[in-house]
Amino acid sequence: MNLQWYPGHMAKAKRMMQENIKLVDVIIELVDARIPLSSKNPDIDSLAGNKSRVILLNKYDMADMRYTNAWKAYFETKGYYVTLVNSRNGNGVKQVKDVVNKACEAKIERDRKRGILNRPVRAMVVGIPNVGKSTFINSFVGKATAKTGNKPGVTKGKQWIRLNKNIELLDTPGILWPKFEDQAVGLRLAMIGSINDNIINTTELACELILFLSNYYKDSLKDRYGLETLEVLENLESAEHVLKQIAIKRASLLKGGEPDIDKAANYVIDDFRNVRLGNITLEFPESLEELKE
Ligand code: G4P
Repeated sequence: MNLQWYPGHMAKAKRMMQENIKLVDVIIELVDARIPLSSKNPDIDSLAGNKSRVILLNKYDMADMRYTNAWKAYFETKGYYVTLVNSRNGNGVKQVKDVVNKACEAKIERDRKRGILNRPVRAMVVGIPNVGKSTFINSFVGKATAKTGNKPGVTKGKQWIRLNKNIELLDTPGILWPKFEDQAVGLRLAMIGSINDNIINTTELACELILFLSNYYKDSLKDRYGLETLEVLENLESAEHVLKQIAIKRASLLKGGEPDIDKAANYVIDDFRNVRLGNITLEFPESLEELKE
């Protein structure tokens, strides 16, 4: 599997990020609640230095709440301020201002001691492609108006959006590259649709998804496709067998009457991405593996 992301892109994204990080007090990092680790690039940690850190578990409307709460706790133990958002309908977006203020409390206190009062904190949004950065920024900013930053220390051309008297947001998000050297990560990114579908094998992807679902969300799979029985699967071959059963149930047959597994694969992937299999999280903090159904 291959991501369309080249060294040139990465170097440029990294340079811009380094430049912008210097200008802000707090980094608001979006991750996808269905794959909070696979949608996070750890390089941001070294780029961020000692800036305050906020993580938004975005698209939580699509993820499994049991695990989303566990991920929130996980990131909090790592020192992040964390909250859940659905940028598409705005749920949770209002709370982000409070979380940003909390994350910056120490800085505000330091400023106060130095006699600097009411200086707004500056924030920027970062995340991998398709994680919801633009949607979030639109929802977060709402009716606030963009103002060109003409203050000392602000690079010319950067737009700061004044959200309220406490927070200014850089209008353009920082783009992080995914950890695509890790195959398991690539697979999860492909499952949620963050990798161009033309460069992946959908049938193989559907088999991987079925394999996972049979372990963690067996009933969702069984109910959606009316399968009489479903074992916890152990390999891709048995997942392909399930795909055949799904094709038969859906009357997706090739000319000779053979089950059309490619078509069934498309159903499964499409159903998953559109939450028709229910709210599903594809990876868990290690301590939660035992929650298997
Ligand atoms: P990016 O800037 O990080 O690249 O991501 P972008 O905002 O373009 O969002 C990518 C897709 O994710 C969009 O869907 C967007 O609507 C969707 N999205 C963002 N946040 C959420 C969320 O919290 N929940 C859900 N369910 N979806 C979210 P799209 O299908 O590409 O576009 P559109 O049909 O919404 O226009």
